[in-house]
Amino acid sequence: MMSLQGFTVLVTGGAGFIGSHIVEDLVTASARVKVYDNFSFGLRDNLRPIAKHVEIIEGDILDCATLERAMRNVDFVSHQAAQLEIFRSTDDPLVDLQINTVGTLNVLKAAKRSGVRKVVNASSACIYGQVNGPTSEDHLPVPNWAYGVSKLAAERYARIYNDYQKLPVVNLRYGIVYGEREWYRRVLTLFIKRAVDGKPPVVFGDGLQVRDFIYVGDVVRLHRLCLGNPNANGQSYNVGTARATTIQELARLVVDASGLGLQVLQEDVAEGAYSQLVPDKRRNSAELKMMLLDCSKAKRELGWEPQVTLLEGVRREIEWVRHNLARWQRIHYSEVV
Ligand SMILES: NC(=O)c1ccc[n+]([C@@H]2O[C@H](COP(=O)([O-])OP(=O)(O)OC[C@H]3O[C@@H](n4cnc5c(N)ncnc54)[C@H](O)[C@@H]3O)[C@@H](O)[C@H]2O)c1
Repeated sequence: MMSLQGFTVLVTGGAGFIGSHIVEDLVTASARVKVYDNFSFGLRDNLRPIAKHVEIIEGDILDCATLERAMRNVDFVSHQAAQLEIFRSTDDPLVDLQINTVGTLNVLKAAKRSGVRKVVNASSACIYGQVNGPTSEDHLPVPNWAYGVSKLAAERYARIYNDYQKLPVVNLRYGIVYGEREWYRRVLTLFIKRAVDGKPPVVFGDGLQVRDFIYVGDVVRLHRLCLGNPNANGQSYNVGTARATTIQELARLVVDASGLGLQVLQEDVAEGAYSQLVPDKRRNSAELKMMLLDCSKAKRELGWEPQVTLLEGVRREIEWVRHNLARWQRIHYSEVV
């Protein structure tokens, strides 16, 4: 893969879960790395092992002056900063729109002004909304959540910069990304936390919803390929495994990976209601019945394929959580009341 020696890469949201893995990879590729994060959700701990190799700029993507200063002499931008709390996006779509759409526009504008060579933009499979089978990149996007609308709009602005402003942009539509340093509130993390605490996972409802889980290390490899390959410019790529996993299967898999011989519990929780068995956890509303990505385009055009199985990835995440339990003490909701 392309060496990044001599190049400077700015990673927005670089203190977050996926961003910190990207930063680590860029440091390994000998790039000079700037992290741009407002630390609303990101953690300095995520960068601790590589902190002396990166420049950390505490800034907001809504603060154009700071962003433009940070963007000086930058060759590539990896845009990972976003608001991705679904309840917040539902309760206050304007905040979501500001951070995810206006924030992305600010990043694109500053990148263009500074003569950046390429922006890789983190998008989401949430742009597709409800689907009935494996979804390819040309599927009509009909988001079910305001979050998906804000990410879709961001992608479209990015495409305009690519097509008409001579700023190459690649959109990566992530499925459910998991792995070490994941934040605590989604289903896999709830299952893992309970298993690590010696408690059985709790499946809400029938657990037949399908998800496409992708290990963070596989995402990072595709991200680097996109930075280096001009064929990716202007393209959107699904980033998943094309493997359908039901929530029931996921619960079983966590039990198997933990090796504790636990049972799987089931609880009837209405969408939007709080669980009785899992403290502080509210079930998402307008839940997706299926998220499953056809990822053949990234394979065909960039030679990328996921390498880490769900079982192996979950084992790695469990191992990480066992050593970092303090990070996962409570579910943090940023609900606007
Ligand atoms: N994790 C997933 O499964 C998933 C799935 C689809 C898409 N994505 C996208 O991937 C990207 C990274 O997600 P993640 O899971 O690492 O989330 P994360 O919350 O761990 O990382 C986001 C980072 O952005 C920072 N941030 C938030 N608002 C900011 C602002 N206004 N200015 C500057 N920094 C700000 C946060 O502090 C955090 O460090 C996001 O764009 C998200 O929409 C993630």
